[in-house]
Amino acid sequence: MTEPPLLALRGISKRFGAVQALKDVELEVHRGEVVALLGDNGAGKSTLVRIIAGVVTADQGVIEWEGQAVQIRTPRAARHLGIATVYQNLALCDGLDVAENLYLGREQRRPGALGRLLRLMDKGGMRREARRQLDAMGIRVPDMRTPVASLSAGQRQTVAISRALLGDPKAVLLDEPTASLGVQQAGHVLDLVDELREHGVGVILISHNMGDVKALADRAAVLRLGCNNGFFHVPTTPQDRIISSIIGVTSSP
Ligand SMILES: Nc1ncnc2c1ncn2[C@@H]1O[C@H](COP(=O)(O)OP(=O)(O)OP(=O)(O)O)[C@@H](O)[C@H]1O
Ligand SMILES: [Mg+2]
Repeated sequence: MTEPPLLALRGISKRFGAVQALKDVELEVHRGEVVALLGDNGAGKSTLVRIIAGVVTADQGVIEWEGQAVQIRTPRAARHLGIATVYQNLALCDGLDVAENLYLGREQRRPGALGRLLRLMDKGGMRREARRQLDAMGIRVPDMRTPVASLSAGQRQTVAISRALLGDPKAVLLDEPTASLGVQQAGHVLDLVDELREHGVGVILISHNMGDVKALADRAAVLRLGCNNGFFHVPTTPQDRIISSIIGVTSSP
């Protein structure tokens, strides 16, 4: 028997008032696979990611995780399954420093009664642990005590990505992770995606950069006006065929 997909979406629909953002959308991601989720502005890509991440609830459809139908009602539920998300509009807290942002929502308490009773944060421990994990992943972040408000867009992006990877996820959703990055930093993020794949992580990568898609993705799923508009085996498909599907010159049968 073949292994079920890590993540499968079956017939997902979502409406926002008069806008049908998604209609009957199908998507599968396997372990160790990078799936590019493509489509023009407003095609529904971020909405789909937000549904998988538990930020938005679908009106219809089923999400399967490791072959089982699951309900993902909250971001915490998604994280608990092993789904990590880097959102298009970065959700970092300006007032907090790098380490605090990395551990936002899963703060570590001081050991013993100080942590248990007084709920004191183990800031030193979080900083050390964050540094250790980021080093292990080859991610360079400036001083852990730097407030993120003072970081560049690219550095903030790196922190957001690091944050998503800290929990050792099984699936990673990246919504335009290189959009605000310079060439070198973008290259670094792409290397990270490659590493995730090698470690058996399933990746959904949203990108408008066809070069990135060609370099990284195993498959591409195209959305157009909220509907599936084709699936492609990226290494063997000419780029212009994928682009035609994105802009609507061709449609899936
Ligand atoms: N919270 C919301 N309320 C109302 N409409 C929404 C909401 N979120 C998304 N939409 C609408 O749903 C459609 C799909 O939006 P979505 O953000 O998923 O597109 P996208 O493919 O990510 O586009 P882009 O490439 O510009 O990021 C758009 O028409 C958008 O206006
Ligand atoms: Mg989007």
